[in-house]
Amino acid sequence: MRLKNPHPIEVVIMAAGKGTRMKSRLPKVLQRLAGVPLVQHVLNTAAQLNARSAVVITGHGAEQVEPWVLAPGQALAVQCVRQEPQLGTGHAVQQAVPVLPDDGVVVILSGDVPLTEADTLQALIAQCGGDKLALLTIRLPDPSGYGRIVRQGDAVQAIVEQKDATDAQRLINEVYSGIMAVPARLLKSWLGRIDNRNAQNEYYLTDVVKLAVADGVAVVAHTIGDPVQVAGVNSPVQLAELERAHQLRQAHRLMAQGVRLTDPARFDLRGQLDCAQDVEIDVNCIFEGKVSLGEGVKVGANCVIANCSIAAGAVIHPFTHIDGEKLGVSVGEGALIGPFARLRPGAQLGAEVHIGNFVEVKNSTMAKGSKANHLAYLGDATVGERVNYGAGSITANYDGANKHRTVIEADVHIGSNCVLVAPVTIGAGGTVGGGSTITKSTEPGSLSVARGKQVSIANWARPKKQPKA
Ligand code: UD1
Ligand code: CA
Repeated sequence: MRLKNPHPIEVVIMAAGKGTRMKSRLPKVLQRLAGVPLVQHVLNTAAQLNARSAVVITGHGAEQVEPWVLAPGQALAVQCVRQEPQLGTGHAVQQAVPVLPDDGVVVILSGDVPLTEADTLQALIAQCGGDKLALLTIRLPDPSGYGRIVRQGDAVQAIVEQKDATDAQRLINEVYSGIMAVPARLLKSWLGRIDNRNAQNEYYLTDVVKLAVADGVAVVAHTIGDPVQVAGVNSPVQLAELERAHQLRQAHRLMAQGVRLTDPARFDLRGQLDCAQDVEIDVNCIFEGKVSLGEGVKVGANCVIANCSIAAGAVIHPFTHIDGEKLGVSVGEGALIGPFARLRPGAQLGAEVHIGNFVEVKNSTMAKGSKANHLAYLGDATVGERVNYGAGSITANYDGANKHRTVIEADVHIGSNCVLVAPVTIGAGGTVGGGSTITKSTEPGSLSVARGKQVSIANWARPKKQPKA
């Protein structure tokens, strides 16, 4: 969804702070929520707003943050400006002034507040209307630590920081979320006039409210009721809490579409999941990247499924791991996978294929009705229809330098514990005897056995243990 705005939007994302409480080498804004760095969530929201550009204020960890946000593939134009040293939120936004065009509306966000919804920001932008200062506020049962919204009657007069507030002001439970929308032209003039005469000797962005009031510019508050949308991440505990809140919302969105989740509290989606009708997902499954599940697909407990499309009626039994990475994985209609199966990039399984426990498939196609039910490896193989691939068999696809293909034509039966040394073709309808190491291609319809002949010695006496001296 991309939203239209009457004024060009510039998003300024503050991301220079230290994040001491994360106790991590990784800068806070690069910590991941649902598999995506916090600052990327904010950039994605900015893109949904159809912002003209995003300016990221960097400082602590800039050498890690900047390459991430400037990497190709962002959905909007991103630039970084450094804030060195960090003298407060007002000082942070001052650094962006030279790159902000005068004709825009600036939306100020924080790189560590990942779950603000585009609709909320859109409503804030509408309140700004291109000529007012609009603050996103929320009422909290415990407002301590936040800037308080001081009103006279209805009109907002100031934001007073916790450390500067009087006892009476500290009782105010409407707080500033850290998010505002403001015309660039006005913001610039106010930022030129703020000072650091306060309890923290910082340049407070929030002081622009007083200046707006002094200039006779209307200050409006857009108050929301959902604390998750303005929650910042300062510690591992807060990161985990927001992750769960986000996952629960995703779970509810899927259930609203009809997906049956056994337990929405034990569901994780780190990417995009598209589900047709009557999909059932048991507990503790993790979906990553782009995954699609066809009608009636059932996913058992404890599966990890990434970058994969699963066709209608397929059943993924518990403890299956699928990761298509860049090549993808496809599972055909009515296929049965697992338990304990592993599908790797380029596994393309046709309808009604069966993959059983401890079977690994990589860069291989298996046509309709083929089965590899136990303890096997298929790599770089092309498998025809109705093939039965025995327990413990493998394709030896790698000669230490190059990979080679194994072709198993339709209706082949590979016994147990076979090694198919690629490149090799097993002709249609052929049979390979158990324990064979096949190094030469075989004719259609043939039986191939390549192992030591059995020797049996009649009435053979086993050695006996010697009595101890
Ligand atoms: C700020 C607000 C407060 C509001 C709260 C909401 C000010 C003065 N106060 O307080 O009214 O209730 O957010 O969470 O703005 N940052 C920089 N450079 C700096 C300082 C901060 O980039 O010099 C970044 C931080 O990395 C963070 C964001 O700005 O992403 C907010 O800074 P933080 O210190 O968390 O603000 P608070 O003091 O909590
Ligand atoms: Ca601070």
